[in-house]
Amino acid sequence: MREIVEKVKTKTRIPVYERSVENVLSAVLASDDIWRIVDLSEEPLPLVVAILETLNELGYVSFEDGVKLTERGLSFLEEMGIGKRVDYTCTHCAGKTVDLNPFSDLLEQFKEITKDRPQPKHEFDQAYVTPETTIARVVLMHIRGDLENKEVFVLGDDDLTSIALMLSGLPKRIAVLDIDERLTKFIERVADEIGYNDIDIFTFDLRKPLPDYALHKFDTFITDPPETIEAIRAFVGRGIATLKGPRCAGYFGITRRESSLDKWREIQRLLINEFNVVITDVIRNFNEYVNWGYAEETRAWRLIPIKSLPKHNWYKSYMFRIETLEGSRGFEDEITVGSELYNDEEASTT
Ligand SMILES: [Fe+2]
Repeated sequence: MREIVEKVKTKTRIPVYERSVENVLSAVLASDDIWRIVDLSEEPLPLVVAILETLNELGYVSFEDGVKLTERGLSFLEEMGIGKRVDYTCTHCAGKTVDLNPFSDLLEQFKEITKDRPQPKHEFDQAYVTPETTIARVVLMHIRGDLENKEVFVLGDDDLTSIALMLSGLPKRIAVLDIDERLTKFIERVADEIGYNDIDIFTFDLRKPLPDYALHKFDTFITDPPETIEAIRAFVGRGIATLKGPRCAGYFGITRRESSLDKWREIQRLLINEFNVVITDVIRNFNEYVNWGYAEETRAWRLIPIKSLPKHNWYKSYMFRIETLEGSRGFEDEITVGSELYNDEEASTT
């Protein structure tokens, strides 16, 4: 095992532990599909690839017909006592912890109204979540008391959460911004169609500081940042800056697919030390993303040893909910970085 870890270290700068190798082997035992292996192992994709290539070089796995364990690999697993990774996610809520049944009409309406939505654009790192996920977000925020008669800010809205919020009729007021005019125009058109007036829609680049209009005026924010520390600082920090004061709430997704637990620790440090907020919820794989059309242009595609398109929604993120307390603060400065905003060693979907 130590030999494997040392060899993986020569291929990647992402921290690798014996546990990382164990997670990947355990996932290979459960599936021969590269995307499912990433999904099940919950290690960053570039690290999974580095581990699989190492295992391949050492004769433990083959890439002939999917990712398969060799005789040698199987006896290694037995020797190490590593079993198959199992998935008994609750089938009623799909692990989201919320019941969508009372909201089936809202879900149908949302699907109908968004069926000709703009498709993801590579340039903005876009990938939207399933309609069930968007409605589950509304339900989750409602359950936590963060929606009804509250003022809600949506920072970046590829998922069209603002539309689900309008349809729910719960918030007192909604503000939404996105860098992509196709999205803001689409949201505007829907607001007109359904006659919803309590929404402000802006085309805006979140690298820029928010205008006074947005600062310290909202109860709740939701955002889905690209997963570099800088991007999380910009998106989540600006989200916090929109909040009125203590005991307001923020929601955002963080994935294991593009962030190692070492990066998670940095993210949690940023939240606790820099923003001085408290993490109240982390819901595993709450956000499920629809496979995006530009998969073959991404780093993930260049990296994977078996060029097959994903057959299931492999990209998921955990839902974080934070609350502000006395002394919490957001981030209001300009961000000057370029593409590094979207890319680090662990990223693979840009
Ligand atoms: Fe459940």
